[in-house]
Amino acid sequence: MVSSAQPIRMLDVILAKRSGKKHSRDEIKFLIDGVMDRSIPDYQLSSWLMAVCWRGMELDECAWLTDAMCHSGQVLDLSDVGPLVGDKHSTGGVGDKTTLVFVPLLCAAGIPMAKLSGRGLGHTGGTIDKLEAIPGFKVDISIEHFIEQVKKIGMAIAGQTAELAPADGHLYAMRDVTGTVESIPLIAASIVSKKMAAGTNLIILDVKCGKGAFMDTEEKAVSLAKTMAAVGRKLNRPVLAVVTDMEQPLGMAVGHTTEVIEAIETLKGRGPHDLIELCMELGSLALVQAGKAKDVAEAVKKLQDLISSGEALKTFGTLISAQGGDARVLDNYSLMPTAKMQKEFLMPATIICDGQEKSLSGKQAKQWIGNLDGKKVAEACKIMGAGRAKKGDPIDLAVGVVLKAKVGDAVEVGQSLATVHCQSEEQYKQATAKLIEAYTFSGSPVLKSTLIKASIT
Ligand code: URA
Repeated sequence: MVSSAQPIRMLDVILAKRSGKKHSRDEIKFLIDGVMDRSIPDYQLSSWLMAVCWRGMELDECAWLTDAMCHSGQVLDLSDVGPLVGDKHSTGGVGDKTTLVFVPLLCAAGIPMAKLSGRGLGHTGGTIDKLEAIPGFKVDISIEHFIEQVKKIGMAIAGQTAELAPADGHLYAMRDVTGTVESIPLIAASIVSKKMAAGTNLIILDVKCGKGAFMDTEEKAVSLAKTMAAVGRKLNRPVLAVVTDMEQPLGMAVGHTTEVIEAIETLKGRGPHDLIELCMELGSLALVQAGKAKDVAEAVKKLQDLISSGEALKTFGTLISAQGGDARVLDNYSLMPTAKMQKEFLMPATIICDGQEKSLSGKQAKQWIGNLDGKKVAEACKIMGAGRAKKGDPIDLAVGVVLKAKVGDAVEVGQSLATVHCQSEEQYKQATAKLIEAYTFSGSPVLKSTLIKASIT
């Protein structure tokens, strides 16, 4: 802590953190004020960010930082909506279409949902881009419209606005180019401040771990989830978090139209088991926390009933119509952008098996999928135009990959591993050359990994 009798100087703040000292609330306020009025130059900010990366922050400091970032811009007031308004956030995953299922499901269960989402950048897809596969669906609605819609129909999903927690925008951009993204207190403050500024008070977080996730190990992901839950507690906002595996894509579909179809199928009760499991886990935590179910078993039953009765699907239709979209897509997927070709990707005879290249024949033709790298699957989609190289790039919503088998499944040479939704033969060739890199195989059975690693309430 810097002596409080003197005006605070950025150099002293950096030196204090460099030597592992705890900041005072005033110092944190000074920092965020300085970020906002640009009185702290970027070189000092980056030096402080690096010091935080190495030295960390105590819980108090992280909560003060979160609060100051939240109040650096507009803070939405959703108190008219009801005592509890939910929001769900994922730290980014391949094939993660959970929001499309979760928002209508929870709304149907009586929890209003106000969800601000981002576009995809890098290898992870964005919910906002996926929703644009639904003809007419408007994601760029004003804050006033967003609040009005939550009041009227109990849910809205819109694009993130720069007016909420603007200090995070600048800090995040600095972190991105100074190697300081991977700091648990900085990630926690960044995520929770934006959620708080959005006015929600039941924050449900899905922290991904594994290859391609911010947190590459379960230990780091659990630590991030616990930090966010603790920061939420300090700031009187319940934060529920689950840590989930991202060693392979979530569900079977990766892309935009392909993922919307999978989300709709899930709302019809025909979804892939891992996506259903995740929605049930997140949803039951939320229902119990909100007092809508007495325990997890009752909550799961309630959520399953909402799916089997068609209520959750109908609620998604209400959301689509409210945001100008064509709700007929629920029954007619061809209304969404559709790729010219759908070609099967067959398991080749030459593969990487138990770490070595192997040409399979005869009895060896049966193998087990050992790894399925989500990042490579996303890269294959990106080659076909589904991803951006930089913010604002146009994307092709029609292309994608629908997997037929995942880790632990037995497959044979010549069997379809995935359906590739592509626009040309050339695209198919390029995408599948990348797709095969996603797989490693094993000559003996492989255990299926567990999706949910931890739940923090
Ligand atoms: N997502 C965010 O919003 N912020 C981070 O710092 C990391 C992931």
